[in-house]
Amino acid sequence: MSKKYIIMGVSGSGKTTVGTLLAKQLHLPFYDADDFHPEGNKVKMASGIPLNDNDRLPWLQALQDRLKSWKGAVLACSALKESYRQILSEGTSVVFVCLKGDYETIRKRMEIREHFMRPELLQSQFDILEPPSYGIAVGIEHTPEAMVSEIISKLAGMKSGAFGIIGMGVMGRSLAKNILSKGFPLSVYNRNTEAEQEVIPSLLSEENNPNLQGFTHLSAFVASLETPRKILLMIPAGDPVDMLLSELTPLLSENDILMDGGNSHYKDTQRRAQQMDALGFRYIGIGISGGEQGALTGPSMMVGANEESYKEVKVLLEAICAKDIKNNPCIALFGNNGAGHFIKTIHNGIEYAEMQLLAEIYGVLRNSLSNDDIAAVLRHWNQGECSSFLLETTIAILEKKEGEDYLLDKILDVAGSKGTGTWSSNTALEQGFPATILTAAVMERALSGQKPLRRELSKKIDFNRHSATIDTEILKSAYQFARMLNHQQGLQLIETTSKAEGWAIDIAEVVRVWTNGCILKSQLLKNIYPLLKENPHLLRHEDILQRLKASENHCAEVIQLGMKQRIPLPCLSSALQYWYGISTEYTTANLIQAQRDAFGAHTYKRIDKPEQQSFTTPWNGNG
Ligand code: 6PG
Repeated sequence: MSKKYIIMGVSGSGKTTVGTLLAKQLHLPFYDADDFHPEGNKVKMASGIPLNDNDRLPWLQALQDRLKSWKGAVLACSALKESYRQILSEGTSVVFVCLKGDYETIRKRMEIREHFMRPELLQSQFDILEPPSYGIAVGIEHTPEAMVSEIISKLAGMKSGAFGIIGMGVMGRSLAKNILSKGFPLSVYNRNTEAEQEVIPSLLSEENNPNLQGFTHLSAFVASLETPRKILLMIPAGDPVDMLLSELTPLLSENDILMDGGNSHYKDTQRRAQQMDALGFRYIGIGISGGEQGALTGPSMMVGANEESYKEVKVLLEAICAKDIKNNPCIALFGNNGAGHFIKTIHNGIEYAEMQLLAEIYGVLRNSLSNDDIAAVLRHWNQGECSSFLLETTIAILEKKEGEDYLLDKILDVAGSKGTGTWSSNTALEQGFPATILTAAVMERALSGQKPLRRELSKKIDFNRHSATIDTEILKSAYQFARMLNHQQGLQLIETTSKAEGWAIDIAEVVRVWTNGCILKSQLLKNIYPLLKENPHLLRHEDILQRLKASENHCAEVIQLGMKQRIPLPCLSSALQYWYGISTEYTTANLIQAQRDAFGAHTYKRIDKPEQQSFTTPWNGNG
């Protein structure tokens, strides 16, 4: 707990008296903020002119410097506005003790006291007072001694949060509720911008839980946490994380643990882990999947950290995450630094392709069926190996009505993205790994964004789509074929990158962690888990190969229908092309290699010579 206390309130509330007594009790030095006013401010106040924000700024900054340098102190300071308190506590952690009284009581007190501030100015103080929603509040109706006793007992009763969360957006809020439901004391922080003013008060009143403390003030939030602090950041990925870290780190103590639970790029996490390490803090990157509902009832978590740091947060994280079929927590430590965020990124890449495959199935079926009828087909599929969270979600979407109409029919066909799909494709390109299906899904979202051109060209390319039906069992078989290959590609991409990064990620364990709580959860993952424990490469399993072989023609049949009807099926097509390629011994890459040698003397290897030997040929001559 912090050893710096600011006794705040309007003039006449008794800050100096109470502060002096409190300092004595706590064996700390006492300071009066009025003593640090520049001379000009004192003259202004004595002549009855209220101070404005510009007047107060140098004074608040001087106090900020003092607070940073003091080891412990009780400071009496009006600190009426949140913005003043932000300045005071920047770079240090303080507990605010607010003395509360009404205008009439304080006015009467001031009239009988000698104070360089005239009583008429009191109203201006009440006008700007913004009482804090954090720290301690004490009424001024009792004697100063009684007030000090109350403050001390409230300080003692201030539960130190075992865990802190920064960012009460959808995911942060749901995780907070999840943590509280498991009985852990929790402190939460959300910034206090105009649009977010109600975030903390509404959470506090909704939860009404003595284990929860809410703050809009970073240093008070930090001060409320037991050390070593364990703070989870649930804020948007990218610059906001770096900005928050630079604001937060001056308030922390050595060995505190910072966890980033957002969808950060794994290379950013690696960089931040190094930066935090150099400052003496520990950094953990956690990929968290499951959306709002998962965060509330149990998400799936992919952790990148060193073992020592992970041990300190493991109990809490295991308590709040989803459980697999054997009741083991759907969380694991996969490697240091960015390993967790990397796995989450590829989870999302696979997710993009799974979503796109469902969109393609919908694209084929909507040619001849209503949304309700498509939902009925998919409901029939949603059992056994085909069942999944994304299929279930799609059924609910297809059935959703707005009045008489399907809501889906009113949604613009332009898909957004936040970056993880692109990062997955980029990783595949960097690693030279053929993750063609997820890349096709990323590109299809990009194509969706070309709406004006699509609209223009569709008018020029006249085509009458016929209502062609397809056996839904064949369609299901094609869908399952592509899903299997999508998972295989994603998992192999993880394995390839893991080797390059030196992580040694256990692929079967990744799949186990994904069997529940996350967006990808499915029966398919449950089914392949035992296989992957034997061999992490899906295509090395004879029965998987036989199933793919048996369904390849179904996929081809669906694609043929798509071609005749001009229905774009990029992921189904990528899956089939990949399958043809990966199961073909002699591809046409011999010609590519010859071309490279022909125009750039890049050399080639021969099938009739040892692999170590390279050859080059003057292709345009006769020799
Ligand atoms: C999850 C989701 C989640 C979110 C993605 C969506 O696992 O809980 O993947 O992280 O839905 O960020 O990503 P896009 O906005 O890029 O589609």
